[in-house]
Amino acid sequence: MSASPEGVEAAGPGAGDLVLSFQRSFFTMGRMDSLPLPELEERLKNSDDSTLIQHILQQTVLHPLCNKYPPSVKYRRLFLAELIKKHEMTGAEPLDDLYDALGEVLRSEELKMCHKNYFLLSGENIRLGENVAIISEGTTGLVTWEAAQFFAEWAMENSEVFNCRSILELGSGIGLVGITICKTCTPKQYIFSDCHPNVLQQLRTNILSNGLLLDSDTWNAKDCEVEVKNKYVSEENQGPEITVIGLDWSEVTQEQVELQPDIIIATDVIYDPEVVLCLVSVLEKFLISNERKEQGSVVYLASTVRNPETYHQFKMELDKVGIGHQVIPGPTRKIFPYNRCTEIELLKIVFAHHL
Ligand SMILES: C[S@@+](CC[C@H](N)C(=O)[O-])C[C@H]1O[C@@H](n2cnc3c(N)ncnc32)[C@H](O)[C@@H]1O
Repeated sequence: MSASPEGVEAAGPGAGDLVLSFQRSFFTMGRMDSLPLPELEERLKNSDDSTLIQHILQQTVLHPLCNKYPPSVKYRRLFLAELIKKHEMTGAEPLDDLYDALGEVLRSEELKMCHKNYFLLSGENIRLGENVAIISEGTTGLVTWEAAQFFAEWAMENSEVFNCRSILELGSGIGLVGITICKTCTPKQYIFSDCHPNVLQQLRTNILSNGLLLDSDTWNAKDCEVEVKNKYVSEENQGPEITVIGLDWSEVTQEQVELQPDIIIATDVIYDPEVVLCLVSVLEKFLISNERKEQGSVVYLASTVRNPETYHQFKMELDKVGIGHQVIPGPTRKIFPYNRCTEIELLKIVFAHHL
């Protein structure tokens, strides 16, 4: 999927990269203003050749992956409208394929869930079932947030951090970060957690549909009607031990604190001033519990800084209980097509005396 589509270079040098860029955005439902539309427009100027638009169409809306795991109806409609606009600007004959595809989309019913495919550099993709609405069923956890994409990129660049380690993720949502780490960073154990029952349900489905297996004590693969490829957990069980648990930051149990993970991860969890205190208290409990281990735990937390006051309050609360934090550099390679103008910060958090 990462190789340039065949024959595309006939549309000019670099056309293959442009088509791939549209494809990566389309399958993660990247915002319209993050699509490389200006570059497309530039290439189409003074040209009445439809080859490039045809290739984009083939690698997105008409791609077999879209047939099986489509982005939302609304997204496909907007995407096609943009392509039609750009094509009309060339003054070329109307392209039947574009209008046929639009007609097909307009006849489709919008469902509550859609699919997103996050392409890795290897060409492999992580497929997630996500809700079409940013907030639904009383939770923000049924979609993937930008800080998760940012952190998944960082993890792939720093896979040695996670190699053979036990990891607990707080507020996992529907799983991009953990699935990426389990597939690319060889952790020993990965514990996904969240507090919302529907999020936990979708999370399990997503883990299984990406060919990972869940610990049978917590989830039985037979209960889930998805294709499970036993690729990442061999018969000798060489892959990570993966579990999904319900963990509410305001009701964390002693048993959960005793999990003693080497690494704790959380992405986009600092958005509500009301949860700041209980989140700091959870981190404190885990860090205290792990002080008994030879190496204490390390927390990695990636946040989109939407409200600087809330974010500052979180850092102040960490300071108050003697937890140190350090801003560390984010990923350097662009893998996922999220908006790079958003301010996202990555913190490494440990007890202050370990800094
Ligand atoms: C903005 S979403 C981020 C989801 C995911 N980490 C991401 O970055 O895409 C916040 C997540 O935190 C979870 N959450 C919120 N309050 C929580 C609490 N008190 N205990 C555990 N999880 C909580 C939500 O269910 C949701 O999945």
